[in-house]
Amino acid sequence: MKRLNSPEELEKFRQDIISKRAPDKPCITLCSGSACQATGSRDVAARIEEEIKKQGLSDKVDIRKTGCHGFCEQGPIIVIHPEGICYFRIKPGDVPGIISQTIKEKKVIEHLLYIDPVTKKKIVHESEIPFYKNQERLVFGSNGSIDPRSIDDYLAIGGYSALGKIFSGMTPEKVLEEVKKSNLRGRGGGGFPAGKKWEGSRSAPDDTKYVIVNADEGDPGAYMDRSLLEGNPHSVLEGLTIGAYAIGSHEGYIYVRQEYPLAVENITLAIKQAEAYGFLGENILGSGFDFNVIVHQGAGAFVSGESTALMTALEGRVGEPRPKYIRSNVKGLWNKPTVLNNVETWANVPLIIDKGADWFTQFGTEGSKGTKIFSLVGKITNTGLVEVPMGITLKDIIYKIGGGIPGGKKFKAVQTGGPSGGCIPEELLDLEVDFDQLTKAGSMMGSGGMIVMDEDTCMVDVARYFIHFLTDESCGKCLPCREGLRQMDKILTNITEGKGKEGDIELLEELSETIIAASLCALGQSAPNPFLSTLRYFRDEYEAHIKDKRCPALSCNELISYYIDPDKCRACMICLKKCPVDAIDGGKKKIHIIDQEKCTNCGTCLEVCPSRFSAVKKISGEPVPAAVPEEKRIIEKGTASPA
Ligand SMILES: Cc1cc2nc3c(=O)[nH]c(=O)nc-3n(C[C@H](O)[C@H](O)[C@H](O)COP(=O)(O)O)c2cc1C
Repeated sequence: MKRLNSPEELEKFRQDIISKRAPDKPCITLCSGSACQATGSRDVAARIEEEIKKQGLSDKVDIRKTGCHGFCEQGPIIVIHPEGICYFRIKPGDVPGIISQTIKEKKVIEHLLYIDPVTKKKIVHESEIPFYKNQERLVFGSNGSIDPRSIDDYLAIGGYSALGKIFSGMTPEKVLEEVKKSNLRGRGGGGFPAGKKWEGSRSAPDDTKYVIVNADEGDPGAYMDRSLLEGNPHSVLEGLTIGAYAIGSHEGYIYVRQEYPLAVENITLAIKQAEAYGFLGENILGSGFDFNVIVHQGAGAFVSGESTALMTALEGRVGEPRPKYIRSNVKGLWNKPTVLNNVETWANVPLIIDKGADWFTQFGTEGSKGTKIFSLVGKITNTGLVEVPMGITLKDIIYKIGGGIPGGKKFKAVQTGGPSGGCIPEELLDLEVDFDQLTKAGSMMGSGGMIVMDEDTCMVDVARYFIHFLTDESCGKCLPCREGLRQMDKILTNITEGKGKEGDIELLEELSETIIAASLCALGQSAPNPFLSTLRYFRDEYEAHIKDKRCPALSCNELISYYIDPDKCRACMICLKKCPVDAIDGGKKKIHIIDQEKCTNCGTCLEVCPSRFSAVKKISGEPVPAAVPEEKRIIEKGTASPA
């Protein structure tokens, strides 16, 4: 690899790479992120390589194993350039046809196309698929077009031009000014302005300073940071180097959880490549500025993502939070000024420096500029990673991009902000998503988890689930969080099991107040949110559980019962055969009855009862109707249905 000694050499080298590329040459990009690897993209890649050789196209077609394309539930995904033909859920067996028909004969293979679940139309090009069409993919967009293991791919799309720009005459103060002007807010949690944080470190009177990438990503279901590190590691490195230059740091860390092996592999390789090209190490691009980056693998505790816990872990101790009397940008890692930013925050920096703060601030709302990547999961038709401009409505994310709620169910709420976030109800679907609006609605942006819930979701159980998660993840160092959450978990569990008492809501409120006020770190300080936000919007559900022992969503196992409507049962024996605990009594011409003592409420009978009968009923808060007397259980000849 060639070491580049000045911004001019970098630009010349970039032009050289671009001139050697043939934009019209067919190129197959295949999503090779963790999610697509789990659904078989490695086998597909091997088959593509084999088939290209077999069909004599070795130097006529490029293959690029890219990072995550975002539409994870449809993987493995192939996009064929330059046409942009997109095929989903590819299996190795599809590959010979793709090469012989689409690559050689330019024919589209109909059955591999995406079918829009709303219009039922087949869509050929990635850019026309509603999931992609309605996004603004500034940070995440390159993931699908570059090989993350190739620094030249990153250079070919303009990578490291921001680095070249700062070393072509931007002072650290000017860089800082630009980041402040962009009003970039941290994408990992609280939305603190990055420029302000950097400024605090820059002006702190200490020669040793650090910059850190927070890639701990502990929120269940969130994987934005993993996908960025796996799919575009150089963008994060470039941002980090620019930040280091701005504050005067010569050492940086990538704190990444060890459960992300591909992210660790790709960022480690990216560091080696950047060092070889002179983008890291001593005298970067001949500027006289030195900066080195070390990868640190975290053990994967949720609390280790908290800033002081993360720094304690980097220092070689147990990753637990410590009191923050002075902000860590002034006294952080080893008590030195330290800028900690999230992966996505760092990945925004090269764009801001390269295109300017004025370009960046066109996107977003008054108080929240740019875009945000969300992991859109739960009861939603299109699950995956989506990048949207700040200010887009929840409705647009859920319906235009997410394709709405599957199975004809009704939307109930969306949970944002990770485990200590909150649930936003249907009446706020027009809410414009940004840091301040989400906080106002009792939730938060967090790092970008977005879990959609339908009418079958019990909001009390949702609160119980997240409080239980946080109880488990509390490090136990401070009492309010350790004991307070344990009590909240117990009370919420009791409520969902039909053992709730008058006064429980008030007790939970009191506990919440104390935990928020007295906990050491933001884990405890925000932990009661799932309870408080569900209480704010779904108080009636809490009351139904406590007063009527009823779960309105028919979800809490201890509060529901199944029974078979004797007028509808046709004695088809399907539920009887499928019941895993033999709780159903009946016969070929004998109306079935569920033995309530044996029934475990697994719901199998409801699932398997043919819709033309719909004989199995799920109820809550009312007694199970008395069983039909034995003599009335025989179905007359001709009325029983064939099994
Ligand atoms: C319990 C807990 C876990 C956290 N986990 C993460 C995480 O996984 N990734 C992250 O970027 N920030 C996480 N944060 C937020 C960080 O403490 C910190 O605010 C953030 O990394 C700062 O970067 P930003 O300003 O770019 O958002 C967590 C905070 C808490 C309280």
